[in-house]
Amino acid sequence: MKEGLSVVTNCEQYGKDIFELTINSPQIATNAKAGQFVHILCGEHNMLRRPISICDVYDNFIKIVFQVKGEGTKWLSCRKKNHVLDILGPLGNGFDISILGEKPVMIGGGIGVPPMFYTMKEARENGSVPTAILGFRNKDLVILEGDFKKIGETHICTDDGSYGINGFVTDILESKIDNFTSVCACGPKPMLKAIWRITKEFDIPCQVSMEERMGCGIGACLVCACELKGNNDLIKYGHVCKDGPVFDAREVVW
Ligand code: FES
Repeated sequence: MKEGLSVVTNCEQYGKDIFELTINSPQIATNAKAGQFVHILCGEHNMLRRPISICDVYDNFIKIVFQVKGEGTKWLSCRKKNHVLDILGPLGNGFDISILGEKPVMIGGGIGVPPMFYTMKEARENGSVPTAILGFRNKDLVILEGDFKKIGETHICTDDGSYGINGFVTDILESKIDNFTSVCACGPKPMLKAIWRITKEFDIPCQVSMEERMGCGIGACLVCACELKGNNDLIKYGHVCKDGPVFDAREVVW
């Protein structure tokens, strides 16, 4: 296969509206780091790209897991084997695996769970013994449980108690905080903010992957602007796509 081409090799539906695509893309697979994303042109006749985090990388393949939220992701979910995709990537700054320490914890909420899988795998390969805490609204939305369990200790919780522990990821984090040397997290902002508060209280390093709407994906528009802490308590603006999506939680204006 020509370097630079990205070809769908498998498409599976996980549950209602959640899909997994496996893509043969040697260029992206060789360069991808945990927490980075790809920007995929979704549709034959428009310029609509969708940012989707990288869930796994092996050999020449990348795996993405995404939720159908609109026309673009609906189109993507209908791709079949051998379809050639137009993908930019890998993009953004991922998690810094080198600073996680011996026992990091990977926390994912909802569709923020997929990027934590590759992060956990990379942490393990780097010599850490990672734990995962994964939160979902209910049993029907639980994804990737078996994959995470192959890498390390994994705790599942649901908001309604229909599967795993009844509660939030923060409940589990707080109850086990003494076991962890660092936190990596991806999910909705209120969840990340709650995690940040706990890690701040216990003085544990915390990296967060922010979910923001994106346009260009490469720092050329302002769609993904976010507020960050600058010097002397001043606010500065960053781009989630280029400066993130992963930030040190201390940098974010919560
Ligand atoms: Fe355009 Fe980030 S999406 S600058």
